[in-house]
Amino acid sequence: MSRKTLNIGLFGFGCVGFGLYEVLQKTPGLKANIKNICVKNPDKKREIGSENFTFNADDLLNNPEINVIVELIDDADAAFEITKRALKSGKAVVSANKKMVAEHFGELLQLQRENNVPLLYEAACCASMPIIRNLEEYYDNDLLDSIQGIVNGSTNYILTKTSRDNISYDEALKQAQDAGYAESNPILDTGGFDAKYKLLILLAHSFGYIAKPDDLLNIGINNLGGVELKYAREKGLKIKLVAQAFKQNDGTVGAFVLPKFVSPEDRLYNVDDVFNGVVTKTSFADEQFFVGRGAGAHPTASAVLSDISALTYDYRYEYKKISRGESVSLSDNLDLTIFLRHEKKDAELLKAYFSDVTESWQNHESGYITGNISFGNLKKLSSDDTTVKSVVLFDVNRN
Ligand SMILES: NC(=O)c1ccc[n+]([C@@H]2O[C@H](COP(=O)([O-])OP(=O)(O)OC[C@H]3O[C@@H](n4cnc5c(N)ncnc54)[C@H](OP(=O)(O)O)[C@@H]3O)[C@@H](O)[C@H]2O)c1
Repeated sequence: MSRKTLNIGLFGFGCVGFGLYEVLQKTPGLKANIKNICVKNPDKKREIGSENFTFNADDLLNNPEINVIVELIDDADAAFEITKRALKSGKAVVSANKKMVAEHFGELLQLQRENNVPLLYEAACCASMPIIRNLEEYYDNDLLDSIQGIVNGSTNYILTKTSRDNISYDEALKQAQDAGYAESNPILDTGGFDAKYKLLILLAHSFGYIAKPDDLLNIGINNLGGVELKYAREKGLKIKLVAQAFKQNDGTVGAFVLPKFVSPEDRLYNVDDVFNGVVTKTSFADEQFFVGRGAGAHPTASAVLSDISALTYDYRYEYKKISRGESVSLSDNLDLTIFLRHEKKDAELLKAYFSDVTESWQNHESGYITGNISFGNLKKLSSDDTTVKSVVLFDVNRN
């Protein structure tokens, strides 16, 4: 098959944009070259000559020689406008922006179909780990039961540093930012939003369900404290931020992002530092485990490079599970076993939300409860951060 030559218009020359530039320099066999780069700040010092840059998006979007837009900016709204214009003008798009893809999944799917051009975004989900294309192609026929994983590199880095290396939360966050792992706005990572955007993308590619960010519960690691870290240590567990989606017996799907205690038997236990890990479970293959770097310039650029390479042979997502039109709905009918930390005065009030309390501990100011709770009650409590200080999942009791 003869491969297409790609003339790239690149948006963004930050951590990933410059990473892509370097990676492309080292991949001479690929028939792809960067024609022009659009950035935002005219006063910033650049790693390469100013003749390569423009500050006007039209220079890329209106250039008929450019047939691919690679969008690597840190502004999801601007990224959506760029992507929309590019697709409407018949240019293929590669993006690493999970927030944009997750917030506009349905519209982006329609734009691809109407204009008959592809949008690829492997780097938006677990950076270097090829999970989207696997879900699209490999798990086409084998019935997927569940997908769960550590999908955010910065929070995994912070959790590893605070629990294993005894570094303070603020110092670990700063290290993640300095290494280029963290989003410009840290709460996107630490609040579990970035993980939720990725889960939304995984949900569409694994179960064919398109949801909006507000449809899924996300609790991050930003409120974790010494009590639960000590609890984990004493019991030989680790706390990881885990995104998961799974089919229930009634055909509905449960999906959420929560900090979770993982035991040494769990495949995610040894996924530390900036690594991501995803475990899929299917009817015939049983469990499979993917692991790889979940952030950073070159690992993320490698997934962008793979998408660019895929475009040279006209690859596009077929969205097979969505196209099959099976009716899937999200379920709130779930039962979870959790750990909940609270202020001492709220213990009795909070116990009433549990269907079964296994353990309850208090000192002079705070305490925790472990036990079973319905997903509905957890959702109610999660919006009340004056009584609920933190939540960590033990397990889902699936029906
Ligand atoms: N960093 C990672 O490890 C990682 C991993 C996976 C996915 N991603 C995703 O990759 C994307 C880029 O992340 P990053 O870490 O490379 O961000 P970054 O280092 O902050 O760089 C952002 C770049 O976007 C440019 N920019 C912002 N708004 C723009 C606009 N309206 N028009 C043109 N250029 C604009 C900035 O221009 P100036 O240079 O002029 O400021 C900068 O070059 C994000 O969607 C992020 O979620 C990142």
